[in-house]
Amino acid sequence: MRSKIVAGNWKMNKNMEETEALLIELSAKLPDTKAEVMVAPTFVNLAAAVRNLETSRIEVIAQNMHFAESGAYTGEISADMLLNIGVDTCIIGHSERRAYFGETDEILAKKVKTALEKGIRVMFCFGEELEDRKSGNHFSVVESQLKNALFSLESSDWSKIILAYEPVWAIGTGETASPEQAQEMHAFIRKTISEAYDGSVSNNVSILYGGSVKPGNAEEIFSKPDVDGGLIGGASLVSDDFVAIINAI
Ligand code: PGA
Repeated sequence: MRSKIVAGNWKMNKNMEETEALLIELSAKLPDTKAEVMVAPTFVNLAAAVRNLETSRIEVIAQNMHFAESGAYTGEISADMLLNIGVDTCIIGHSERRAYFGETDEILAKKVKTALEKGIRVMFCFGEELEDRKSGNHFSVVESQLKNALFSLESSDWSKIILAYEPVWAIGTGETASPEQAQEMHAFIRKTISEAYDGSVSNNVSILYGGSVKPGNAEEIFSKPDVDGGLIGGASLVSDDFVAIINAI
């Protein structure tokens, strides 16, 4: 059985006091849910967030990591550093990393490999740009993103993979894929994985939707059979909104 997951990607938002305040609010308001709830604060606040949530069900995850073990990579963070502070899940391949920091499929494949070797669970993000959708290439773009970064993995590696389909045109724009568009793509992703591996891999991987999920649209998106939860940006920065989205699952 695949897990239901709601994760908040806080991106480059919230200083230390704000991070702590939001974590306290979330812990106090967290509904009773079987879903896994995760938050990804900025690197400088990760260790404090782990300490703050020691007794909470909310998991602290990282927004990014480097593929190298250690060494001369100024400004970067290694898998071991994350594990050392108690973080064992990491977002890899977010569209902002791809667009602003030049992360290619090849780099992402290396990051995924290192993460899995180190025992870090990967939340792998991918999704098409607006032009791809307009020109009808969205399925082939998504297929190649998956293939290039993930399809050299062993079947057994997939128990450590969470997928987050995030159409770039819906991220932070207020424009959301319709529940039907999300379901159509998630079903395509599952079919693609099942063809590359088998039905047990494709049925067991959680596929989250991301892109302007809000309290007002979460329930309808999450009700689709192949949507196993969401990766939430803007709305995860406001405790009442994030809690409403968790409730929607
Ligand atoms: P958004 O961001 O919810 O603000 O659109 C989603 C994401 O980037 O993961």
